[in-house]
Amino acid sequence: MNEDINRKRLNDLEDNIRQDLDMLKEYEDKERYETDPRHKAKYRQEIKRQHESLTHNQEEYDELRRQMTPEELQNVTDLLQQKNAKLDKIQKLLPPIWNIPQHQNPNFTGRKGILAGLRLALTSGEPAAWKQAITGMGGVGKTQLTVEYIYRHKADYRVIWWVRSEESATIAADYASLAVDLNLPEKDFEDQTEIAKAVKRWLEHNPDWLLIFDNAQDPSGIRNYLPQGGAGHVIITSRNPLWGSVAKLLPAPIFDRAESIEFLCKRTGQEDKKAADALADELGDLPLALEQAGAYIETT
Ligand SMILES: Nc1ncnc2c1ncn2[C@@H]1O[C@H](COP(=O)(O)OP(=O)(O)OP(=O)(O)O)[C@@H](O)[C@H]1O
Ligand SMILES: [Mg+2]
Repeated sequence: MNEDINRKRLNDLEDNIRQDLDMLKEYEDKERYETDPRHKAKYRQEIKRQHESLTHNQEEYDELRRQMTPEELQNVTDLLQQKNAKLDKIQKLLPPIWNIPQHQNPNFTGRKGILAGLRLALTSGEPAAWKQAITGMGGVGKTQLTVEYIYRHKADYRVIWWVRSEESATIAADYASLAVDLNLPEKDFEDQTEIAKAVKRWLEHNPDWLLIFDNAQDPSGIRNYLPQGGAGHVIITSRNPLWGSVAKLLPAPIFDRAESIEFLCKRTGQEDKKAADALADELGDLPLALEQAGAYIETT
């Protein structure tokens, strides 16, 4: 009797996984050619559902394993592996939800320690370290550091969203467009505050996202948008050094001299280190000023 029940459960499990595999194969083909962000968001939700169903399959399988032999389970073992592999493959096909306006800077120079520190802090699991505020004067390279971080670690995130934070209107607009790309039910609401709340809730309940508040003025300007917690990371860039109440501080200094020289030589294609040293000295090792000088030298 018990054996019959187990056999039936095994058959059901097999059928179940087979059906999911067929569906996943269909997705795989469709996803390849999908460009509409709303459809992509739908696939993402389906994939999430499939992950949940995989967990259920796994639980059922574990129970059956206690009562049946490996030989009897061989088929379903193979099928489970296939489903796992297919889900992985499909997930990789789907590009992250992403609105990064800048390209990676081919002349990006130095900053090894800061980038390593930023990564370490964000992934440390320490309370509040998942929010980092890069602070420093205009032109010192806060935004550049963030862009470089994004390109180095983009494979680790499913959502990377840039929020233009100098004004409250652009913050609200960028949150509203994230609601569209996430395909949240609230995306068409009239009231942007409600949309922002929905995005915030999503962030608080989902992993693997990176949010950038670029050029934020002060904590009060972004407080209503910052998720309370969750399994994601936040980078704030700001000229204002006073972020201790909402994030860990990561001050960005000017280039050290070696970085200035390396940058100038790379930027201008010239190798005269003495001249580069003198110029860097004159420009106070400020990356923005060095970039402008480099651009000028390149054209003359
Ligand atoms: N590490 C770097 N390597 C190469 N170029 C850099 C680097 N950092 C900054 N720059 C150059 O300096 C310019 C200014 O940097 P960035 O825009 O990041 O400054 P910022 O600190 O964000 O300034 P602001 O406060 O005005 O936003 C960049 O456009 C780039 O040309
Ligand atoms: Mg900036």
